[in-house]
Amino acid sequence: MSRKLLVLCMAALMAMAALVAGCGGEQKAAESEKVLKVGVNADFAPFEFQDENGKEYQGFDMDLIRAVGEEMGYKVEINNLNFDGLIPALEAGNIDVCISGMTINEERKQKVNFSDPYYKSGLSIIVAKDNDSIKKFEDLKGKKVAVQIGTTSAAEVKKIEGVEVKEFNSSADTFMELRAKGVDAVVNDRPVNDYYIMKSGETNVKALPDLLTSEDYGIAVSKKNEELLNKVNDALRKLHENGKYDEIFTKWFGTTSK
Ligand code: ARG
Repeated sequence: MSRKLLVLCMAALMAMAALVAGCGGEQKAAESEKVLKVGVNADFAPFEFQDENGKEYQGFDMDLIRAVGEEMGYKVEINNLNFDGLIPALEAGNIDVCISGMTINEERKQKVNFSDPYYKSGLSIIVAKDNDSIKKFEDLKGKKVAVQIGTTSAAEVKKIEGVEVKEFNSSADTFMELRAKGVDAVVNDRPVNDYYIMKSGETNVKALPDLLTSEDYGIAVSKKNEELLNKVNDALRKLHENGKYDEIFTKWFGTTSK
């Protein structure tokens, strides 16, 4: 082969390679433009909340869903809604998935699909530090209790006989009501209660060790989109395998998930 021909062949090969790479690149760009519309109720630290300027969404769920989106090749778009508006938004197709410390239960499973469980939780009580009359859940009988609307706390506390339930739009409002002495206790997910006590600098309240229920959090997906549910579960599985889940867990809870 003459030198000239060799140069020509190489040039042709390089052009072809560039074309192939170019195609791949375009495909990738198109993929990364897929948007995952995520519904959250961003008032549930350390799972989902906004920084002091009220801009950046942060928390365990936020890191997890961003990692899930990345694994799936989707751009994550966060939509902040009321907690009791999340399932209706999924049903209406306004959001694709919802991650919000949402407990998997039978009632919700009638309306939406849930991913594999990603966090184990339960309910606990916060009372004023000088409160000696409430030590466990049965003691809430006849007492005023603040809960967030539409949560498992609201459902469980209502089962207690003679309890006066006061429902609020956010868990921040329930804590405020306790501070204002409008209620005797707050019932909420334990990690959220513990985080509040740790971060708020509030010294006049205490979390009680008594735990009601054992609950699993799941990512909710519209029933119309089985394919998306599979993608979410695949992504979760990969994040467990590659250590990313544990990394996020340790960042927010200081211990490993195992
Ligand atoms: N785990 C509870 C439930 O599913 C409370 C969740 C509240 N989440 C939130 N982001 N406000 O009912």
